[in-house]
Amino acid sequence: MGLKTLLGIKKYQWEKSAKKFIAKAKKTFPQYPWENFLRISEHFRGRELSSLPERAFLFRLSHDLPLDAKVVEIGSWIGASSCLLASGLKGTKAKMYAIDNFKGNASDCSASIRYRERMTKLKTDTTKAIFDKNIAYFNLENRVTAIVHDSLQAAKSFCEPLHSVDLVFIDGDHSEEATKNDITLWFPFVKPGGIMVFHDFTSNHGVPQAIWWAVKQSYFSELVGIYGSTIAFRVC
Ligand SMILES: C[S@@+](CC[C@H](N)C(=O)[O-])C[C@H]1O[C@@H](n2cnc3c(N)ncnc32)[C@H](O)[C@@H]1O
Repeated sequence: MGLKTLLGIKKYQWEKSAKKFIAKAKKTFPQYPWENFLRISEHFRGRELSSLPERAFLFRLSHDLPLDAKVVEIGSWIGASSCLLASGLKGTKAKMYAIDNFKGNASDCSASIRYRERMTKLKTDTTKAIFDKNIAYFNLENRVTAIVHDSLQAAKSFCEPLHSVDLVFIDGDHSEEATKNDITLWFPFVKPGGIMVFHDFTSNHGVPQAIWWAVKQSYFSELVGIYGSTIAFRVC
């Protein structure tokens, strides 16, 4: 079987399962703009998109935020989650900050090597241009501001006031220490009752240990939901 045929079959299978997923989602949660979700998921399908249920969870969390909400994302890569979060938002003043060094730098050596390999495949040493192209493809430039920094630097010079962010999505450096730092750095910016979301909480990198530490420190008042390896909490 040729590569073209194989890719064709994979595309067909993905479209079939996506259609089934959307049909069910529309019935269960009719209030969400699922066509936007489908368009973005289709664009990023394959390696850059994790499972549809967890991506849909992220999309719903963002759509559930109040009008003109503010979202911060730590770790954007080429923008799959950024596009989903930004397109879920409502209101002309809604804002999303995508924070990433766009170099795949991470304290965990094996993660850095994995990012380098992916960058070699993408024939680049930074994903910023691809990120920008993807944001522009969905006309989200007015809503999304990329901050080309590590999380720590970005938090130090962040332009929004404390207690003003509605949702923070943490998906950057996955080591335990870095995830704890992300929690402590970004927690003060979140509104009381706002949301903190983590990706890869089922991984063995250190994310679950950091989350458990934050739970014990009483950072969170409520578990909002879990889909796949995405977990969301309401902050105190
Ligand atoms: C798993 S990828 C993000 C994937 C993206 N959230 C998505 O779901 O489409 C992790 C990203 O975090 C970035 N990163 C690693 N350490 C970081 C740090 N300290 N601050 C900001 N970004 C970081 C990497 O460059 C990489 O692009």
